Amino acid sequence: MNVVVLGGTKGMGRAMARALAARGDRLFLLGRDAEDLARSAADLESRSNLEDRPGTARCDLEDASSFAPALDAAAEALGRLDAVVVTAGMFGPQEELEADSERTARLLAVNFTQTVLFCEEARRRLLAQGGGKLCVFSSVAGERGRKPVVLYGASKAGLSAYLEGLDHKFRADGLETICVKPGFVKTGMTAGLDPPPFAGEPEQVASQVLKALDRGSPVVYAPPMWALVMMVIRRLPRFVMRKIGF
Ligand SMILES: NC(=O)c1ccc[n+]([C@@H]2O[C@H](COP(=O)([O-])OP(=O)(O)OC[C@H]3O[C@@H](n4cnc5c(N)ncnc54)[C@H](OP(=O)(O)O)[C@@H]3O)[C@@H](O)[C@H]2O)c1
Repeated sequence: MNVVVLGGTKGMGRAMARALAARGDRLFLLGRDAEDLARSAADLESRSNLEDRPGTARCDLEDASSFAPALDAAAEALGRLDAVVVTAGMFGPQEELEADSERTARLLAVNFTQTVLFCEEARRRLLAQGGGKLCVFSSVAGERGRKPVVLYGASKAGLSAYLEGLDHKFRADGLETICVKPGFVKTGMTAGLDPPPFAGEPEQVASQVLKALDRGSPVVYAPPMWALVMMVIRRLPRFVMRKIGF
């Protein structure tokens, strides 16, 4: 497969890129730091039997004017785009966001508006070539309004709703939309937070998401245990949610 990855230099995106490269998929990396991208492309080349070092292009979720040129560069390098994977995103602890409107505005914009605008650029290109896969990392935090993730969770709830609508509208036209809902995964994003009992590792999530990408599953909870956890959380009455700290 020819795969574009936005966010492939860190955390779950890096694990996804490594897993894709290991099985011989051709990659193109998008991100906001040119040095980081070059280092990651060299790392991927050294770990796999890739014929070419993955190409790279600047794409900053805070700068919508970077989206179209980045995807054009990927299409020029790879030819057909079989899949576009978006793992890039921002997190902030609830208390810190409550105290910092500017950071909150950035997080809401990056995780929702700008990610949706990037996906729209990808959607147009994938549909124009007859279809493809769009795999985007949202979060279990978007499933229900919850005290520890009021703001981050709201940004991901919007993203999940967009991805579900996209899947309903365009699957018949060949666009397979895959919404990944990780629970707690040990990456730079969660460094310093206390891991809960079912905390996952990025490599474990990547291998699960890869299977879902191949199958075109519309929703993936990762690690899988989070599907059960969220099934319970979705059913809890509001008065219970108001009492508990989850
Ligand atoms: N870790 C978890 O427990 C968890 C749980 C649920 C959902 N998620 C979601 O899963 C996805 C991956 O998370 P992760 O834990 O792997 O995070 P991570 O290790 O912090 O990596 C985040 C990636 O996003 C990129 N990024 C951030 N802002 C960007 C911007 N403005 N433009 C372009 N790229 C940007 C970062 O690039 P830089 O290196 O340039 O900063 C980095 O490559 C995120 O969407 C996150 O919200 C994570």
